[in-house]
Amino acid sequence: MRIILLGPPASGKGTQAKRLMDRLGVPQISTGDMLRAARAAGTALGREADEFMKAGRLVPDSVVIGLVGERLAEADAQAGFILDGFPRTVPQAEALDALLTSKAMPLTSVLEIRVPRDLLVERAVLRRTDVRTGQIYHLKYSPPPPDAELEHRADDQEDKVTQRLSDYEAITSALLPYYEAKGLLKTVDGVGELDEVTDRIASALEPGR
Ligand code: AP5
Repeated sequence: MRIILLGPPASGKGTQAKRLMDRLGVPQISTGDMLRAARAAGTALGREADEFMKAGRLVPDSVVIGLVGERLAEADAQAGFILDGFPRTVPQAEALDALLTSKAMPLTSVLEIRVPRDLLVERAVLRRTDVRTGQIYHLKYSPPPPDAELEHRADDQEDKVTQRLSDYEAITSALLPYYEAKGLLKTVDGVGELDEVTDRIASALEPGR
């Protein structure tokens, strides 16, 4: 299974990738998580990414493509992966195609999670993450346990969410026709209980669907 999860900010890519990882036995590769880890570690790459992330803007392609190239070379990615948040631009998608072709590891599916815009803003603004476990919660839909150590992402302020949604619509949504033309795109309704959405994704991934 070599899968891309596509979808706007807060559509549930991270939540569903973590659930699919257990079902499919392949790692989640989240560029957002990798960039936040680099930033927390204070690396040069993390410092470069920080100004873009704080503003809710895309980090330059060259930075992200290099990061994913290194991650896909690791042993656990050879049996498959779930890409979450990458690619986000056509140049990123083209670089991924070139890399996977050189490894004879073609993509299996590209799954778009579709959620209406008004729900996306609510999902992002009320999202909280447990810094110790990485578990994603929502103050209304998936309340955290009382002992969770919660972080509210700086780019989940409403004005930053609006910026991220605009970039998705203006830039990343070009990947939908890109992957449709390759016969890889499947679309899943991302509204509903978490289990329901996971089941929809799992059945869309079945061979022949
Ligand atoms: P990244 O971390 O990838 O952010 P994103 O794409 O904006 O996605 P999110 O993490 O916001 O949302 P998600 O779809 O994973 O939703 P989640 O499962 O958390 O990137 C952050 C930044 O890094 C970017 O802005 C950019 O600066 C940089 N970056 C990263 N990758 C890059 C790249 N390739 N190129 C350039 N720059 C890059 O769910 C959201 C909330 O909804 C949660 O609270 C969850 O509990 C809740 N929820 C989920 N499902 C449901 C449901 N079915 N019902 C109710 N609530 C739900």
